Amino acid sequence: MSLVNVARLDDLRAGQPKLVEVGGARLVLVCVKDEVYACDDVCAHQGGPLSQGKLSGVRLACPWHGWMYDVRTGECVMPGRGNRVASYATRIEGGTVWVQVP
Ligand code: FES
Repeated sequence: MSLVNVARLDDLRAGQPKLVEVGGARLVLVCVKDEVYACDDVCAHQGGPLSQGKLSGVRLACPWHGWMYDVRTGECVMPGRGNRVASYATRIEGGTVWVQVP
């Protein structure tokens, strides 16, 4: 595991998912209240870009067919058939967002 600097906190807007690349992988960052969450950007259904989806609270909807993910865990909550995307621990220090990646 390693911590990777992925963004400045100032670059994140509440309710606005942000795409970042870490070691060639696409992750989506979302800011909900005072927390920042990180998940894989690639939808478990057919690969839609979650960073272009719509955020409602902690639920991020894929723009292609509407599957919804809990950004805190990466779990698909709708249709909720056990699908998920990977989620990653985050840390905010001095206005910098860090993500713990394998
Ligand atoms: S590709 Fe995301 S819901 Fe179908």
